[in-house]
Parts: sequence; C-alpha cells; structure tokens
Amino acid sequence: MTTYLVTGGAGFIGSNFIFHLLERYPQARIVCLDALTYAGNLSTLAGVMERENFRFVRGSVTDREAVFALFQEERPEYVVNFAAETHVDRAIESPGVFLETNILGTQNLMDACRQYGVERFHQVSTDEVYGDLPLDRPELLFTEETPLCASSPYSASKAAADLLVQAYVRTYGLPASISRCSNNYGPYQFPEKLIPLMIANALADRPLPVYGTGENVRDWLYVADHCKAIDLILHRGRAGQVYNIGGHNEMRNIDIVRRILACLHKSETLITFVKDRAGHDLRYAIDPAKIHRELGWLPETRFAEGLEKTIDWYLAHRDWWEQIVSGEYRAYYQRMYGGR
Ligand code: NAD
Ligand code: DAU
Repeated sequence: MTTYLVTGGAGFIGSNFIFHLLERYPQARIVCLDALTYAGNLSTLAGVMERENFRFVRGSVTDREAVFALFQEERPEYVVNFAAETHVDRAIESPGVFLETNILGTQNLMDACRQYGVERFHQVSTDEVYGDLPLDRPELLFTEETPLCASSPYSASKAAADLLVQAYVRTYGLPASISRCSNNYGPYQFPEKLIPLMIANALADRPLPVYGTGENVRDWLYVADHCKAIDLILHRGRAGQVYNIGGHNEMRNIDIVRRILACLHKSETLITFVKDRAGHDLRYAIDPAKIHRELGWLPETRFAEGLEKTIDWYLAHRDWWEQIVSGEYRAYYQRMYGGR
C-alpha cells in the first residue's frame, strides 16, 4: 500500500488535496500532519476521519523529533508539504513564525526524507516568490526562469524554502520537486483571504475593505485544478524541477469584489477603500507552458463557474465559516482593519 504524507492537510488546499487523493487512489494510505494553527480546522476533515486508510496526526513540522518519529512509523513514499503560514498581512505583522514554519519546517521534512528514503518530496510553493509584475506590461509573465525577488516576509520565507529544496536536490540527490501556483479559491478557504472574506462580509452587510485603489491584479485558479496539477507533478513530473501552475485568469481585485456583490445581489455601496497593504505586489501572472507541455495539464474550471460554485459552497456551509469568524479571527480583524 502506498503511503502519502500530506502536511498542512487541515488547511484550505491541503484538505482539498486529501479529498482528491482519497477519491483518485482509494487503495492508498493518507497520513495528514497538521499543527491546527488558527488556519487549520479539523471540522474540514470530519467527513474522512473515520476512513480506515486515513490518519490524522496533530503535530508541527517544526518539531523535528515528532517528524522523524512519524516517518519511522509510517515510512511514506510520497511527502507533499502544504504546511505553512500563508497570509501576507499576518506576515507583515509578525514575520518570525513564517520563518520557523515555512523554512525550518521544510528542512525537518527533507532531513526525514533523506534519512528514511522517499519516492518524492513535493514542496508546494507560490508565484509570490517571483515578486510582482508591472500593471502596464500585460505581455510579461512569470516563467520558471524568472529570478526570485520576494516582496513580503511571507514570500521571502517561501523563496528561502524553495532555495533549500533546490540545494537538497543538488547536494544530497533528494528526489524533490517544487510547484509555484497562483492565487487559489474554492471550498474551505479561511475567510481572511480576499474571496471568502468578501463573501462573508457581503452576506453580513458589512463593509468590503479593498486595499488601495483595488487595481492590483491576481491570477486566479480553482483549487481542484491546483490539486490535479500537484498529483501529476508528484507522479509524472521530473525530480529536481520547478513547475509553474496557473490558468491565465488575471483579474483586478475591484472587479472580483464587484462580481461577488452582483452574485449575492448586494449593493456596491458596501465597497470601502482602505489603506493599502505595505509593499503590496501589483500584479501576478503565471506562464503555465511547462506543465502543459511536459504533463498535459490544463485548468478545467472557468472562473465564472468556479466563483459560482465557491459562493454556493459558502452559502451552504455557514456553520463551517461562522464558527471561524468568531474568537481569534475577531481580534485579528479588529487589529488589521480597525484603524484603516
Ligand atoms: P492555509 O493557511 O489554509 O493552511 C495552512 C495549514 O498548515 C493549516 O492547516 C495549518 O494548521 C497548517 N500549519 C501551519 N503551521 C504548521 C506547522 N508548523 N506544522 C504543521 N502544520 C502547520 O494555507 P493554504 O492556502 O491551504 O496554502 C497551502 C500551501 O499552498 C502553502 O504552502 C502556501 O504557501 C501554498 N500556496 C497557497 C496559495 C493560495 O492561494 N492559498 C497559492 C499558492 C501556493
Ligand atoms: O499568489 C499566491 C498567494 O495568494 C499565496 O501564496 C498566499 O498564501 C495567498 O494568501 C495569496 O496571497 P495574496 O496576498 O494575493 O492573497 P489575499 O487573499 O490576501 O489578497 C488578494 C488580493 O486582495 C491582494 O491584492 C490584496 C487584496 N485584498 C486582500 C484582503 C484580505 C484586499 O483588497 N482586501 C482584503 O481585505
């Protein structure tokens, strides 16, 4: 039986990836290691907890002993690392934990992979490691050869981890790969991120805080398409390689917010322009030619369809996110948006 270790599987993309694996490889064993930080929710995994071929382990990738003990016990063939601190605004507020989790956590996992041997270690990275692109040069896209040029403590920590992965490939021959994806959206995304935050606020008739002028551009991909791409890279992608993942779907933040309001039949008067994010990246745009050429991957979900599915999901799963937008999140929201 093949064993997959998925770290950060109680978060947004990691949980969607676990659901993908369980459906696609019903004979496989899936072990999820997650620290259950504010961003991790066991309720997300409730539907799979009782499966015989699924095991949830609460623990941190920064706990080296616990990581090694888990490898000793489970001997995973495939390790996919989603575990990370992921929110740019939180990184601006307190960068330390981003360096610990995103860099040292990755190192611990790779050292365990070296000690116990794996078929593949896959690092889930981000397009943010490339920095940003100007708004007035639409022909420019991030390719795998674009130099790393991180702008925030979050993206710097992800770029550092990417460099470490590449160093382990070269120095120790670790069979590792890296994927750099654009912005994801879909079910189970924590409501601090743009799309679920705007859906939740619109439903409550609360102001929709748009940073700066709202003209910053992100390149959106439905989460299920990201999961399929990682599956392909894990099994058929070349070790030692970086693959960009994106669907040529650039949108201005303000246009996304307007679309959400229109879908929910809410007034645009809810839009409130607030102080910009420090160091705010202007535009991300991925060139996904390599993963298409080598692995035949193409996104399957058009944005209009994906956004509708996402809004429907948030409407149908109010318990999931209403429980989250209380407690720690309230204090965070007050700190982040209170004086803006
Ligand atoms: P998320 O914040 O929703 O989830 C992160 C998960 O990691 C949570 O379950 C959390 O509990 C867990 N975690 C945090 N610290 C941990 C630790 N020390 N040990 C074990 N688990 C820990 O994140 P996400 O949006 O699902 O992102 C997953 C990965 O994908 C990240 O590496 C991120 O950089 C990358 N990524 C995200 C996007 C996006 O748009 N969300 C796009 C490209 C890449
Ligand atoms: O590009 C991939 C990255 O996408 C991932 O690596 C990150 O983990 C993920 O958080 C995301 O980063 P962004 O900073 O692009 O996502 P966020 O949802 O925070 O913001 C998207 C855009 O919306 C950004 O330009 C900032 C803006 N924004 C965000 C929030 C939360 C607002 O205007 N208002 C808001 O309240």
